[in-house]
Amino acid sequence: MSETARNTSSAMARVALVTGAASGIGEAVCRILAGSGVAIAAADQNAAGLAALQDRLGPGVRFLSAVLDVRDEAAQQAFVADVEAKLGAITDVVPCAGLARSAPAEEMTGEQWDLVLDINLRGTFLTCKTAAAVMLPRRRGSIVCLASITARGGQPGRANYAASKWGLVGLVKSLASEWGNRGVRVNAVAPNGVDTPMLTAGVPEHFREGVMLDRTPLGRFAQVEEIAQGIAFLLSDAASYVTGTVLDIDGGLTAGYLTHKQGSDYALHQR
Ligand SMILES: NC(=O)c1ccc[n+]([C@@H]2O[C@H](COP(=O)([O-])OP(=O)(O)OC[C@H]3O[C@@H](n4cnc5c(N)ncnc54)[C@H](O)[C@@H]3O)[C@@H](O)[C@H]2O)c1
Repeated sequence: MSETARNTSSAMARVALVTGAASGIGEAVCRILAGSGVAIAAADQNAAGLAALQDRLGPGVRFLSAVLDVRDEAAQQAFVADVEAKLGAITDVVPCAGLARSAPAEEMTGEQWDLVLDINLRGTFLTCKTAAAVMLPRRRGSIVCLASITARGGQPGRANYAASKWGLVGLVKSLASEWGNRGVRVNAVAPNGVDTPMLTAGVPEHFREGVMLDRTPLGRFAQVEEIAQGIAFLLSDAASYVTGTVLDIDGGLTAGYLTHKQGSDYALHQR
């Protein structure tokens, strides 16, 4: 068998379920996995975005999509059953659906709190649980969840988002402990700002440029592909001994408390 044929036949055995697939990081994960021959099962609330994704992937990619809300457990179960019937056994899971609703903590409404916790944390749990129900009996599967640098500290104005992402890290470590000896690995990535609508529409420019970028040694935000490549690595057999970990993909933001993007110049000036 040629190298190409071998790669294609082993990749054909993979089916990735991605939520939040219509935009940003989820969309990039679909593109990168599809480029390796992985079949794509894409879920999102945004029907137009899913249709655009299918167009972008093209007719050569085995693709199935569902318009659903990740808070709806029955809808997630129905999609998993549909994917298994039409694309084959799910092997890879990336729960990317998420959002932020920022407000000063003393003004944050119960609705804002519940919405973010429900989608980012409960929705992710439901995706993991639903997919694991079919992966665990086969003793094969890899899940990568979306944490954030906000799960490495706190962030003013984002008490709900930070709580959801800290909770998600606890979820990932618990699932990794629970499912590791049954063949399913569970990890997370923790991005700094990524150039998506969540960042550009959700974080004020002065905070993005003046605070986040100033503390980022690499001096820029990530492109979605840079996060998706880290996810693809954790999903793959190249990470076969990695479970329960959170991979920082943050341009060095969490490398030190006193970092800022001109850090080395600053140090030189003090000599
Ligand atoms: N962009 C960043 O700077 C950044 C940084 C760290 C972590 N993250 C995390 O990465 C993940 C993806 O974020 P993104 O930047 O790609 O955002 P995005 O807004 O570009 O995409 C999020 C997608 O999730 C979908 N979605 C939202 N709620 C949903 C629901 N209830 N059911 C189904 N789909 C739903 C949206 O329709 C959208 O297509 C999120 O969990 C986010 O918290 C993003």
